Amino acid sequence: MNALARLDPRRTGSPSYDPTEFTFIFWHGRVLMVSLIVAMAENRVIGRDGDLPWRLSSDLRRFKQLTMGHHLLMGRVTWDSLGRALPGRTSIVISRRPLDLPDGVLQATSLESALELAAGDDEPFVIGGAQIYRLALPVVSRIYLTEVLSSVDGDVLFPELHWSEWRELRSETLPATDRDEFPHRFRVLERIE
Ligand SMILES: NC(=O)c1ccc[n+]([C@@H]2O[C@H](COP(=O)([O-])OP(=O)(O)OC[C@H]3O[C@@H](n4cnc5c(N)ncnc54)[C@H](OP(=O)(O)O)[C@@H]3O)[C@@H](O)[C@H]2O)c1
Repeated sequence: MNALARLDPRRTGSPSYDPTEFTFIFWHGRVLMVSLIVAMAENRVIGRDGDLPWRLSSDLRRFKQLTMGHHLLMGRVTWDSLGRALPGRTSIVISRRPLDLPDGVLQATSLESALELAAGDDEPFVIGGAQIYRLALPVVSRIYLTEVLSSVDGDVLFPELHWSEWRELRSETLPATDRDEFPHRFRVLERIE
């Protein structure tokens, strides 16, 4: 279990739990809800050659609607692939080394410090890539998952999900179109307490 999982009150919950450890997830008297958003193929592929391996306009539109106004926590490789700050949102780039970032884009040297920077946000989003998803999964309470209904070639995989820990709140399946390369299913998953 990593340090953040140990800080997660949903995993301890005991009144005798040391409150000084609720530094990042239990923030100023409230639980910080952290969401994760990802598009993943049937074989768990999420990336290829530092980019997305598909063209899905509906997914990009949904990503924009969901994340607008929020903090986006991302790994440095994903930042490089985006190439710019996404308008209307605060980007936080996680890297172990100093980065030359545009004004308004924040840097964190760990997931913990990224969450601290986003603490005023009622729903910060972890937006990838695989290394950062792996770090964040233990403290995420909601996943906005786009399942690309195909196996796709790629070199970056989403970590294995323990499906028994999640329940589905919503699901919607959409066909392939001239703007969406693959049929796909939007799902909202919530961690079972
Ligand atoms: N399908 C999707 O929804 C989706 C979403 C996002 C990304 N992607 C794809 O995923 C791929 C990128 O994923 P990735 O896993 O290669 O990279 P990533 O998670 O985006 O970034 C990895 C970088 O994060 C930093 N990092 C990782 N662990 C850290 C830690 N514990 N402390 C501090 N910094 C840490 C390091 O940066 P430094 O090397 O600078 O130290 C590391 O190189 C791309 O192909 C992208 O297009 C897909």
